[in-house]
Amino acid sequence: MHAYIGASTSRIDGVAKVTGAAKYAGEFNVAGLAHASMVGATIAKGRITRIDTSAAKAVTGVIDVLTHENRPPLPDNDQAYKDDVAPDGSPFRPLYDSKIMFNGQPIALVVAETPEIARFAASLVKVDYSKEASVTDIFQARDSAVPAGSTEPGMAPPKTRGKPDLALAAAAVRHEAEYFVPIEHHNPMELYASTVVYDGGGKLTVYDKTQGVQNVQKYLCGVFGMKPDDVRVMSPFMGGGFGSGLRPQFQAVLAGLAARALQRSVRLVLTRQQMYALGYRPAMIQRIALGANKGGTLDAILHDAVTITSQYEDFHRQETGWSGVLYKSPNAKYVHRLAKLDLATACDMRAPSAATALFALESAMDELAIKLKLDPVELRLRCYTDRNQNEDKPFSSKALRECYQQGAEAFGWSKRKPEPRSMRDGSDLVGWGMATGVWEALQVPITVRIALTANGHAEVACATSDIGTGTYTIMAQVAADMLGLPLDNISIKLGDSSLPQSPVEGGSWIATSVANAIAGTAEAIRGDLLRIAGQMPSSALADLAVGDVVLADGKLASRRDASRAVPIADVMRHGSMDRIDKELTTNPAQDHSQAHNTHSAVFAEVKVDEQLGVIRVTRVVNAVAAGRILNPKTAGSQILGGVVWGIGMALHEETVIDHRFGRIMNANIAEYHVPVHADVHDIKVVFVDEQDNSNPLGMKGVGEIGIVGVAAAIANAVYHATGTRVRALPITLDKLQG
Ligand code: MOS
Repeated sequence: MHAYIGASTSRIDGVAKVTGAAKYAGEFNVAGLAHASMVGATIAKGRITRIDTSAAKAVTGVIDVLTHENRPPLPDNDQAYKDDVAPDGSPFRPLYDSKIMFNGQPIALVVAETPEIARFAASLVKVDYSKEASVTDIFQARDSAVPAGSTEPGMAPPKTRGKPDLALAAAAVRHEAEYFVPIEHHNPMELYASTVVYDGGGKLTVYDKTQGVQNVQKYLCGVFGMKPDDVRVMSPFMGGGFGSGLRPQFQAVLAGLAARALQRSVRLVLTRQQMYALGYRPAMIQRIALGANKGGTLDAILHDAVTITSQYEDFHRQETGWSGVLYKSPNAKYVHRLAKLDLATACDMRAPSAATALFALESAMDELAIKLKLDPVELRLRCYTDRNQNEDKPFSSKALRECYQQGAEAFGWSKRKPEPRSMRDGSDLVGWGMATGVWEALQVPITVRIALTANGHAEVACATSDIGTGTYTIMAQVAADMLGLPLDNISIKLGDSSLPQSPVEGGSWIATSVANAIAGTAEAIRGDLLRIAGQMPSSALADLAVGDVVLADGKLASRRDASRAVPIADVMRHGSMDRIDKELTTNPAQDHSQAHNTHSAVFAEVKVDEQLGVIRVTRVVNAVAAGRILNPKTAGSQILGGVVWGIGMALHEETVIDHRFGRIMNANIAEYHVPVHADVHDIKVVFVDEQDNSNPLGMKGVGEIGIVGVAAAIANAVYHATGTRVRALPITLDKLQG
């Protein structure tokens, strides 16, 4: 019996967040703190020929200006700059030399007594460049793109199945088209910041905005040649990362360099504009070709993608293989090439690869359904696969049929008239569209420490982050149930590199990993308590095994007979202890015989003003199958947030570059459009029951699945409303005219 697992518990850190008690990386204060401001390059490619910092240095209150010419020593090998999630290539080295590789690249750091002085002085740094021609346009570089995944194992596209070209040519019904997703930026609310506290003896405590404190610790140790004991990285709260904080970002190096050079604590907060140089969702050109027979099943899928990265690193994911997870097709071919541009390296952004790939795939499936005169849901059911086609494996669970069915019912899909422009609401055209979503259900090795005290309090510690997803809360829920304590008696420690090992919080893998690790560690504590309890005189639990007992209401009790119980406090007293500390690493057995995924069905309604082309997304139902849901409130919020972001992807988001200068023109959240409150209407999340035995708690993560498929569902709804198919995101109203 679980009191907390499965309950819609409010965030245990909610009050701290809304009252301002929760501190973020740029808010930690220490005596003597100096403030830094970064100067970014204004060309995309070339060299600095002269950098004049004299005017900046002359400003009262400026302490120093660091450039590549006067910075402390930095390592000269790539390995020193590699982090846990670095792609192939040569990582960026902040302030390393005169070479410019992207517009906005940090080239100087002004350190001053106040942030205002630093920022003003930074505007006085004068730079001369020798400029080279730069290419920042994917369409200009697509023909020279190189095959992706040539060296990184597991990153190449899935192997060809059957004879896709022949099968496509022979197919009774074909659909072939090109789709485009532009560069998008994460734009988390919290600005990227590092407060580097310079301790006596040169040790550093770094309050950093990151999704992985131990990744940053390891990285800074590499860059500064320091020992792990001398660098502590803390990130107790994070105001959104969405993937932009998986890799250590350059503000941490810059603030650390300054702190070490000045032997003084230094803070650097990037501006919103500067954050556009950190990373982005790579633009993607996709060609999809589908061949079907008259019965509405697929004979051939061809998915050809070009994505972008920098000149110095080969970032990409496995972008093209998703159709093999969703739909049965005996013949399939996947091609993925990388266009190397004069930009910063692309990075993960919520559901990297799936969010973009499924826009194309699910738009194409909609177009195929129209050619086949089939309901879009019906086409997907006919193409359903119970095996991952790429790896020929069954799924550990796949309740996608139930997602289609329950989502359609909640939406009222059966009332849809199939003809485009056939549904109206006053002067608005009404459109209903749907799409499938898919993501990975992963588990990673992680370590948890639990300290249970005789007074019935437990502290649970792990170096994971809570990037805003609700990790604090679900950790406490699982610990409370597994230790049989009230939620209020659990304290959670996370976001500190000195805590037990955790990988970065990403990939939707932390909730499952840390929750099962807490359950395992709690079980070990139960075993310890039972051993002692068994030795107590006339013990009520003497003949029981660890599987026969539970922790409940502050007692160790028989699972079958609750009257056979001993208070934890008595057990500890008998063992002459006042606490039990247990640290356990959970290394989930990788079951390679099965595929592990979450699935969803997204249904969207749009209303389009016929005269003006203005699109409103008036209703979305997202039906998600993700195993057992620990907390419908926090999990539901992840899906809601994903849908809102999907609305942005469909209608608003686009990073615009002036290719003459390789410069982002809308590097701010006034001109980089995201959905605001007025854009968000009725969103309903349905969690479909799904049994999964891949881990003891039967969980899958939900951080990313919520966005997948949303943009396609909206694009399909726009087509249904207007009869105009828009294959290049975002669907701005100009694309509906003419
Ligand atoms: Mo996620 S894009 O792995 O933070």
